[in-house]
Amino acid sequence: MEAAEHGRRVLGGGERPHPLDPLSEAEIVAARRIMAEAGVVTPSTRIAYLGLLEPPKDEIDRSPERRVRALLLDIADGASQDVIVSVTGGQVVARTPIDPVTDGQVPLLGEEHALVRRVLRADPEWARALGRRGVTDLSTVYLAALTAGHYDLPGEEGRRIARVLAHVQPTPESLPWAHPVDGLVAYVDLIKAAVLEIVDTGTLPIPQESGDYHDPEVSGPHRTSLRPIEITQPDGPSFTIDGSLVTWENWSVRLGYDMREGLVLHQIGFDDAGRTRPIVHRASIAEMVVSYGDPSPVRFWQNYFDTGEYQLGKLANALELGCDCLGEITYFDVTVTGDDGSPRTLPNAICMHEEDYGVLWKHTDPANGSRETRRQRRLVISFFVTVGNYDYGFYWYLYLDGTIELEVKATGIVFTGAYDERAAPHASEVAPGLAAPYHQHLFSARLDMTVDGVANAVEEVDVRRVPMGEGNPYGNAFGRAVTRLRTEAEGRRDADTGLDRTWHVINPAVRNRLGGPVGYALFPEGKPVLLADEASSIRARAAFATRHLWVTRHHAEERYPAGDLVNQHPGGAGLPHYTAADRDIDGQDIVLWHTFGLTHFPRLEDWPIMPVDTCGFTLRPVGFFDRNPTLDVPPSTGRHSCH
Ligand code: CO
Repeated sequence: MEAAEHGRRVLGGGERPHPLDPLSEAEIVAARRIMAEAGVVTPSTRIAYLGLLEPPKDEIDRSPERRVRALLLDIADGASQDVIVSVTGGQVVARTPIDPVTDGQVPLLGEEHALVRRVLRADPEWARALGRRGVTDLSTVYLAALTAGHYDLPGEEGRRIARVLAHVQPTPESLPWAHPVDGLVAYVDLIKAAVLEIVDTGTLPIPQESGDYHDPEVSGPHRTSLRPIEITQPDGPSFTIDGSLVTWENWSVRLGYDMREGLVLHQIGFDDAGRTRPIVHRASIAEMVVSYGDPSPVRFWQNYFDTGEYQLGKLANALELGCDCLGEITYFDVTVTGDDGSPRTLPNAICMHEEDYGVLWKHTDPANGSRETRRQRRLVISFFVTVGNYDYGFYWYLYLDGTIELEVKATGIVFTGAYDERAAPHASEVAPGLAAPYHQHLFSARLDMTVDGVANAVEEVDVRRVPMGEGNPYGNAFGRAVTRLRTEAEGRRDADTGLDRTWHVINPAVRNRLGGPVGYALFPEGKPVLLADEASSIRARAAFATRHLWVTRHHAEERYPAGDLVNQHPGGAGLPHYTAADRDIDGQDIVLWHTFGLTHFPRLEDWPIMPVDTCGFTLRPVGFFDRNPTLDVPPSTGRHSCH
């Protein structure tokens, strides 16, 4: 094992990859070649997704085969297929045609943004609609392909489509989002490269005030009062890196990356007296949806699955030292696949470093006068993506005391329309004449738990009030109510912050020193789940987001909470389908799917760029350790130390 250095590494791509390592450039090239040689990939084929098919947990150490899953689209006729390739075996293992009517569409391609721009710039009806709004120079109109959803609109069944909203970008240096062209949306057939429909509900004034926060005319001069903060670790960071395996203090974790999910943490374990105890086999944010609450006839369809439809993993930022990450940073480059099937390196996509996190524990004792303080630290493993107007940071934290936390940072620019009093109950006015529709950002964390082994169970733990009476004569008693979740139907649960509800993932077969089962508890934030009506399309398509918790029996093919193919899917896939058989989850190999997120009523302060808002969840040991696992943390040393 080598000592970690400040600097930059490539994730995956070693001579002998670990079975969970992400695909290397060479493997992506090989997978494409194998598919081309088998006639599966032709010049009109686009590779919408390519990713590692991970070996099952009981075969990881004896599985040298590297398998790849590819989602392919033939842009000549719209035919799509789901293909499995053995890279080590040099062959296509399986090919399944996709029926767009029942199965949905493969994710959006990067090149489809350019396609909608080309199609609409050549369309006279679109030009006339813009002209009626005073926009005559089509080169100043910013357009992006937006995923269409599924609404049973006439002529859409089975077609691959995108919807397009327009914003005016006055100059190439300026931002378009302050200048929405409202009352207008185009539906584009992405295979025929033709306009399907233009919906024009009447003109609204285009807001004119600049939103160019990088322009001193808008932001004013920079303040000069902030003095530098430097974070230094003179002896370097405390972690070590061996390929994709990271060890830090008692933690070990294997880093993975996928062009759909982004960062994946494998085999999170904690070294306890020389023995690595597994906690989570695999952790990722397996889906997210941004659902808008504006019923306007040009915006009712706005529901973006940034993972399943846009594949945020391929949209990772190149992070910069001193800007995105402060201190002694290690970066990892990752490799994803372009539309044409060639590998694309995303430099500095993952940032890893240690952070001081204030006081870990402290006591000044009045009896013996002893005074002890220890400082908390966390290992931060993060990546940041840009999906159109919005930016999301995903920060995993491992703490000295065994806590695991995920924090999502939401920032960027809120989506805009023209402010119209008719839409007022469903949008905020954030600048004169400029509306930001209400929306939710809902995430699904997929947590394949292995608390001290594969067979786990879940207990829901609430606070419980106790009535005054026998055994509670003065009425001061309270306790806890513990309910075992035994089947997948029982495993669909909602948070209840009033009851301080948590879900304890226990291993019934492994006991702590006082005889209780070892466990890790999921602490939810308990913010609102999906608010759309029961009968809405989005409710069927994002059913995962209607409950805070789902618990399923592990199955290798059940990876995505809204299903494998989310784009234009009619609904019902993913968790509702996975749990339909109501399997036993009590003492089994189980997966937790946790919904969390933000319900966003944009503020004036969110314009023209939104300060980071956060959401997430925490996993904490409960009876996993026999006592506080940080008693061996030494007092601080260093230049600013109290000792
Ligand atoms: Co928001």
